[in-house]
Amino acid sequence: MAESPNQLHSLFLGPQGDNEQLLRELIESALQSHLEWRRAYHPEDSSPIPALKQKGWAGRNLLALEQEFAGLLAQLRGSVPFFHRRYNGHMLSEQTIPSQAAYFAAMLYNANNVSAEVAPVTTRLEGEVANQLAEMIGYDPSSCWGHLTSGGTIANFEALWIARNVLYHPVAARLATAALGVDISVLLPDGTLASLSSLDLWQLLNIRPSSSLDLWEKLWLAAPGPLIERTLKSYSLATLGYQDYSRQLAAEFGDELPAAAVLAAGTSHYSWAKIVAALGVGSNQLRFVPVNRECRMDPDALWREIESLTRQRMPIMACISACGTTEEGAVDDLHSLLEIRARAEWELGVTFHIHSDACYGGYAAALTRGPDGSRHSAAQVRGITGSSDWPSDQWLESITALAKADSISIDPHKMGYVPYPAGAFLLKDRRGRELVATDPPYLAIASDREAEQPVIGRFIFEGSKPGASAAAVWMNHRMIPLNSDGHGRIIASTMRAARKLHTLLGAANFSPLRVLRLPEPDLNIVCFLLHHPSLTSIRALNAFNEKIYKALSPDEHMTAPYMITRTKLTAPTYDGAIEPLLSQLGEDAALYRSDLVEGVTILRATVMNPFSDEAEPDHLRGLIDAIRDVAMSLLEPATAPDGVYSANNPSFSAKST
Ligand SMILES: Cc1ncc(COP(=O)(O)O)c(C=O)c1O
Repeated sequence: MAESPNQLHSLFLGPQGDNEQLLRELIESALQSHLEWRRAYHPEDSSPIPALKQKGWAGRNLLALEQEFAGLLAQLRGSVPFFHRRYNGHMLSEQTIPSQAAYFAAMLYNANNVSAEVAPVTTRLEGEVANQLAEMIGYDPSSCWGHLTSGGTIANFEALWIARNVLYHPVAARLATAALGVDISVLLPDGTLASLSSLDLWQLLNIRPSSSLDLWEKLWLAAPGPLIERTLKSYSLATLGYQDYSRQLAAEFGDELPAAAVLAAGTSHYSWAKIVAALGVGSNQLRFVPVNRECRMDPDALWREIESLTRQRMPIMACISACGTTEEGAVDDLHSLLEIRARAEWELGVTFHIHSDACYGGYAAALTRGPDGSRHSAAQVRGITGSSDWPSDQWLESITALAKADSISIDPHKMGYVPYPAGAFLLKDRRGRELVATDPPYLAIASDREAEQPVIGRFIFEGSKPGASAAAVWMNHRMIPLNSDGHGRIIASTMRAARKLHTLLGAANFSPLRVLRLPEPDLNIVCFLLHHPSLTSIRALNAFNEKIYKALSPDEHMTAPYMITRTKLTAPTYDGAIEPLLSQLGEDAALYRSDLVEGVTILRATVMNPFSDEAEPDHLRGLIDAIRDVAMSLLEPATAPDGVYSANNPSFSAKST
């Protein structure tokens, strides 16, 4: 287990390939072990390869292979140098050596984690990894469920897929019980018990996720299993599809199926737009909740949205909270969002699934865990980060509240520093997976054999998937555990660097330009823009920052001295963040306020390189100098065409082309 920052650093290949020997040895031992394994399997069988060699195939192939491979290697060298501290663009960085070596080792076996039948080892590793992630965020491994996905998009998809089926499950249960002539009780959001048959459509669409899943078990007790399963299926949305389902509800309740809303912060990742479209929920139903100054979902705005939807009799399928927004690294105040749901249950009889999109920030929970798995106190965490004010109480409460979210997505291939593809989906109440289960006939394993030979493919959207990813994440967690000695330490050090960058940007002399910053980040992403008085419209301000981004982004020869990215804060959902940003300009802010429709371009530095906090060389200052140099090069003397620009010369403007 890694204990000091230096030891952690020895687990990365390093900017100069510093730990080359270690990686070579691990890869070599993986290959050796794999060869031994092959040779031990039916050694009495002869191999066809010598015969093919005699026919001369190998020689011709070898030459072509060597040439093509050299060509591929040359092409790959045109890749973006994510491993380096000069890269502060997207959520991409170094990978750990343990995960690279484990990926390579398991790749040789090419296990397919769709099922334990074909991947007995790596499906077990996947289960262990899911439990580790669950324990880190505070789920009970005995009642939750989790697995790896190809990434955050699929993990998010599964969350809404399950939330959708859990939302409509009480309706199917009600119709099934009526058809079977039985009745069962159901817990309402205000805590009272009612008989299922007495509920109207609105009430049926406002049953807590856990109570909806209780119905599953109650039904099983009320009638023979196979009959229940058949009847439920025949009334379920998944079987009927939205059109038939809606027709059926109109016939049964005199009421068509009301469209259900999905609430997400304006900061939410664009995967949510894909998911509502793919699931047939509809893009119109994705409602963006405004964010506040810190780019966190505004809890008051959420409450207003819930009230408004309740007035319209529009059920809520899910509320998507973020732990680490893609653009700003903002950590929503999940604790408050959960309180708002509780209030909605009591005051309005309205409830919904809460998902935390912690694809980026989930690993930050490691900072709150001690080596024995216990939760650190706030003082202990601040002792580890070496900061009196980070993390804030709000941050810690939000991370602790992850344990109460109905589902979570966390990407090991982001802040877990493992190779792609590795996302993870966690579901608090494992029973929910039954509502998306599909039996694959050719894998020939029904649910009764689940305990011996789990078929992950039954419950997930993907089919074939790499066992190598599971091995990579597993090995990664063995060496860099999910606590404050392991991944927590990396988070703490990248946060120190990000906060330092934020401070340096505020203190640096960019005169005659000004740096406008978003507030100090919740996670290691620093957002800012550069302003100059000659940029008198939002369009000009955006174009100027766009040019800075262009000069500091990858090109064919990677000539940029440093690399960052940019994004846009759009009105009205980002108003809560845009207004304080612009107000740093005093009266000049009025120039921009009147024309915010196209949004405000901001520059974005993702400071996730595990070496970001190292003083030598000082790449944080290097980045600031590069931004300043690029910005200055975009200015020109306005009144003295032949003059050379100097920072003290007020007679200049931003170049118009
Ligand atoms: C918050 C968030 N959610 C989801 C995703 C989607 O993840 P993936 O690209 O792995 O599908 C991202 C990707 O950046 C993200 O930042």
